[in-house]
Amino acid sequence: MSLQDYIFEKPVIETEHLILRTMNKNDIDDLKEWISDISLYEYWGKRPSKSEKNPELLFNKPEKATKSFHWGIVHKQDSKVIGEIWIYLIENNRMAKVAFRLSKQYQGNGLMSEALKSVIEFCFSKTELQKIWTDVHILNHASYKTLEKVGFQREGHIRGGKMVNTYCDYYLYGILKSDYVTS
Ligand SMILES: CC(C)(COP(=O)(O)OP(=O)(O)OC[C@H]1O[C@@H](n2cnc3c(N)ncnc32)[C@H](O)[C@@H]1OP(=O)(O)O)[C@@H](O)C(=O)NCCC(=O)NCCS
Repeated sequence: MSLQDYIFEKPVIETEHLILRTMNKNDIDDLKEWISDISLYEYWGKRPSKSEKNPELLFNKPEKATKSFHWGIVHKQDSKVIGEIWIYLIENNRMAKVAFRLSKQYQGNGLMSEALKSVIEFCFSKTELQKIWTDVHILNHASYKTLEKVGFQREGHIRGGKMVNTYCDYYLYGILKSDYVTS
């Protein structure tokens, strides 16, 4: 399989506690419970958008054909969408960025590490991606601990740089396919 094979049919990933799948209109009520929670945006680099404040707007346009991935994270125990994870900014089918967030109510239980691990495994075993990276505000301990737990390494410390829509100090984190194979 390659990135090309997933343009029209996105994969479903199942882990012990979670199902990662494309979201749809039926998920709007679940999203409304947490997606505009301001605490999730403290280190997100921007405030909640209009559609994050009104999740029904997220589904107004048909999904674009893209090599990127955007999974909703479903908690098997209560069948609710409790978070999201993206693989995007794909460059030359080789390198991509990851982003993730989880409803506050479900944080601190190892769920994002579980989701992220499964996504990294998918990227390196089912696509030609060789590197996944992200930028993390230096105060976002929860995020970089999650990345480190899954095998990402801190690769840089940017001072006063642009992270999404804000200027701040942030770390660069990355994982290579070769790290994953040997870990
Ligand atoms: C980052 C986030 C997804 C983590 O989700 P989570 O499910 O709570 O993370 P996990 O429970 O898998 O924790 C992973 C590791 O981080 C640590 N951790 C979690 N929250 C932490 C915190 N607030 N401070 C320090 N460490 C923390 C955990 O202890 C765990 O390490 P351990 O197993 O060695 O103890 C969640 O905090 C979130 O959605 N934050 C807001 C959005 C955001 O900032 N996303 C990242 C943008 S780059």
